[in-house]
Amino acid sequence: MTERTRRKSMKRIGFHDREKELKEFTNILDSEPSLITFVYGPINSGKTALVNHLISRQLPEEYAPFYINLRGRFITGYEDFLNVLFEIDEGGVIDNISEYAASILKDLKIVSGIPIPLNLFEQIFEKKDKSKDMFRYIERFFMEISEKRVPVLIIDELQVIGDMKIDGLLIYKLFNFFVRLTKELHLAHIFVITSDSLFLEQVYSEAMLEGRCRYLLVDDFDYETTATFLGGHGFTGAENALAWEYCGGKPVCLVELVNAKQSSGSIVEMSERMLNEEVSRLIFMMARNRERKNDIVETLSIFDSVEETKYSDSMDLDLLSFLVKQNILFLDPVERTIKPQSQLSLLAIRGVLKDV
Ligand SMILES: Nc1ncnc2c1ncn2[C@@H]1O[C@H](COP(=O)(O)OP(=O)(O)OP(=O)(O)O)[C@@H](O)[C@H]1O
Ligand SMILES: [Mg+2]
Repeated sequence: MTERTRRKSMKRIGFHDREKELKEFTNILDSEPSLITFVYGPINSGKTALVNHLISRQLPEEYAPFYINLRGRFITGYEDFLNVLFEIDEGGVIDNISEYAASILKDLKIVSGIPIPLNLFEQIFEKKDKSKDMFRYIERFFMEISEKRVPVLIIDELQVIGDMKIDGLLIYKLFNFFVRLTKELHLAHIFVITSDSLFLEQVYSEAMLEGRCRYLLVDDFDYETTATFLGGHGFTGAENALAWEYCGGKPVCLVELVNAKQSSGSIVEMSERMLNEEVSRLIFMMARNRERKNDIVETLSIFDSVEETKYSDSMDLDLLSFLVKQNILFLDPVERTIKPQSQLSLLAIRGVLKDV
């Protein structure tokens, strides 16, 4: 069988229902917008998949979603960021935002930015204080949209701007605008998604968001969901147990195992291979950061005996932040718990620390 025919014969792995999390989203959407929602969770826990499923399949007609994914977008500064918020519409000169919003609603596709006519975008970009005018445009646009539908603005992969260390001012201005759209005007639902929960915590304190936002956790699948997901793909009880031992409920990892099974590969081999990759990643990370190795080992050795721990102020926040950025640890800013990003990370940590 060629690679191509093998791929063709492979069953597409559909979205596995996440009833609990979807219910949490719907509850928020059902009420008047009043808080910004921070959607957070470990890497590859299925945040993006969940939100995409929600807006493409489950969102009733009365909502108008605007989904912006910052991953892979070229952002080096403030202007780039503002640019990314918009999807420029080159369809002729338009000055009347009200008519423009009505035309957008007639045929609303899932857009990757807030639609703006090119001429208005250019006008704003010539201005000195661009953010003021851009925010004013978004507010006007949403006002018009809200005559017919409830705008839902989703910013995914927020950590992209955290990695750039954009000055606090951008974050401050942006989130204050979001507070205006939610708490003050009750105009739009705002969801901000990221796996870098420490960055989220920083945004929370820098933009002074106490009482203005709520957190929604999208974690890896729990045991039951994992078993149902795998069962749906023909896994036996023993295969389920093996998958849970290696992958926990990490969707991306489970998908790999399902693919292995579908192509008559070995689930054990695939599990070992994924673990080996994780071990290598950890070893090279430590090698690249030799000067911090002792501290890294000391922090990670906590997970020798437990799967998660509580944050305490004796911990070196700088080091924790580093390990979060390296995608080794995940910190839940609400519960203040710390755990490895995945079951594979946990196994890798335990394996590697035995040998140092
Ligand atoms: N509910 C689901 N059903 C089936 N597969 C899923 C589900 N959720 C996630 N996956 C699989 O896991 C992969 C990773 O999920 P996704 O990209 O949504 O994670 P994420 O939390 O957004 O990751 P990141 O932290 O990198 O932003 C998806 O490409 C998909 O294959
Ligand atoms: Mg994502």
